[in-house]
Amino acid sequence: MDHFQLRHGVMHAEDVPLTRIAEEVGTPVYVYSRATLVRHARVFREALSGLKNPHIAFAVKSNPNLAVLKVLSREGYGADVVSGGELVRALAADMAPKDIVFSGVGKTAAELLQALDADIGQFNLESKEEGRELAEIAVQNGKIARCALRVNPDVDARTHEKISTGKAENKFGVPIDRAAGIYAALAALPGLDMRGIAVHIGSQLSSLEPLETAFGKVGDLIAELRAQGQKVTHADLGGGLGVPYKSGDVLPSPAEYGAMVAQVTKDWDVALSFEPGRVIAGNAGVLLTRVIRVKRSSNASPFVVVDAAMNDLARPAMYGAWHDIDAVEPNGTRSVSHIVGPICETGDTFAMNREMDTLEAGDLAIFRTAGAYGATMASSYNSRGFVAEVLVDGDKYAVVADRLPPADIMGAERVPDWL
Ligand code: LLP
Repeated sequence: MDHFQLRHGVMHAEDVPLTRIAEEVGTPVYVYSRATLVRHARVFREALSGLKNPHIAFAVKSNPNLAVLKVLSREGYGADVVSGGELVRALAADMAPKDIVFSGVGKTAAELLQALDADIGQFNLESKEEGRELAEIAVQNGKIARCALRVNPDVDARTHEKISTGKAENKFGVPIDRAAGIYAALAALPGLDMRGIAVHIGSQLSSLEPLETAFGKVGDLIAELRAQGQKVTHADLGGGLGVPYKSGDVLPSPAEYGAMVAQVTKDWDVALSFEPGRVIAGNAGVLLTRVIRVKRSSNASPFVVVDAAMNDLARPAMYGAWHDIDAVEPNGTRSVSHIVGPICETGDTFAMNREMDTLEAGDLAIFRTAGAYGATMASSYNSRGFVAEVLVDGDKYAVVADRLPPADIMGAERVPDWL
């Protein structure tokens, strides 16, 4: 359930008509609903209520906007970060250092030190090499790093290949059949407090089965490690739960996910943590756009050219992803059209031959389910500005990220005096 609904013929975000935001802030603009974010955060927490003190770390990569992070930090969420930049954001949003977990296959020495200095809750180590480097940095700085070892369970998550992370050929984690040896080697190092296992097999998962298989393998590994005398007190089960992008899509619910986790982990006797991103933020945001013009050059479907482009919402161009598109003021007619952005690439296409609300020049429309992996993946390609972001709360809204105009971006560039 989200709070982007038609009221008296006009699409609203909570109590704010999107026509008002378009007029006052301009388009394209991402619009987030605070009530939806809060609802999703609570539904996910409630789904895990069968577990003892689960720890939830929002995957900052899915929506790093400071105001969004602040909403989630108020809900008691911690953060899963993958860079020094995300760590700074999580701290700025008042997430407690102990509630921050650092994932990622390429943490630099500087980032490891930055996170040690911040005294974050846990490092999810992706390799033996990373563990050794962290141990050295920790010792040099008189610190102890709390760590989990991320394993690669070699499970097919059955999602888009670019967002699958748990197959043997993917770059993430250590092979699960070698994990016990690596864990023991790292546990012997000074500076590291090896305390658990982490796993994350991919994103936008539409079935619980691969997760269940992966978690089963983690359970076996925990038993094996304990049999070898290792301490295992924590397990991080990652994120990955998919969301409906197309009306009518049915995905596993957080409650079903929670029940599966409770069943699989019932004998683990560890503190469990989770890293949800999309399931919290995805349907809490839309991308609001205006039709520039409709190009009818042949008998085929017209090209509806909107002012949002692949630089603002990369998912369709990058993964062939579907986003539902709805008119903000539907006139009751529907037709088949291609929805494209202004960028000079054929890939800048949001939908081909889509039956949807009829749109004419000047009309407003929304791309739904754009709250996760939307603004954060934006670029300034074609020297377009960075898209603005707005957070709605009841009948008020605030601009939570200014539109960054092309001139400001150019302002960071220099022409050397020898040119
Ligand atoms: N934990 C780790 C270690 C991850 O790599 C990810 C996502 C998550 C948690 C959160 O996963 P979620 O709950 O959001 O599925 N840009 C792509 C998605 C990339 C996901 C990367 N990792 C997209 O637009 O579909």
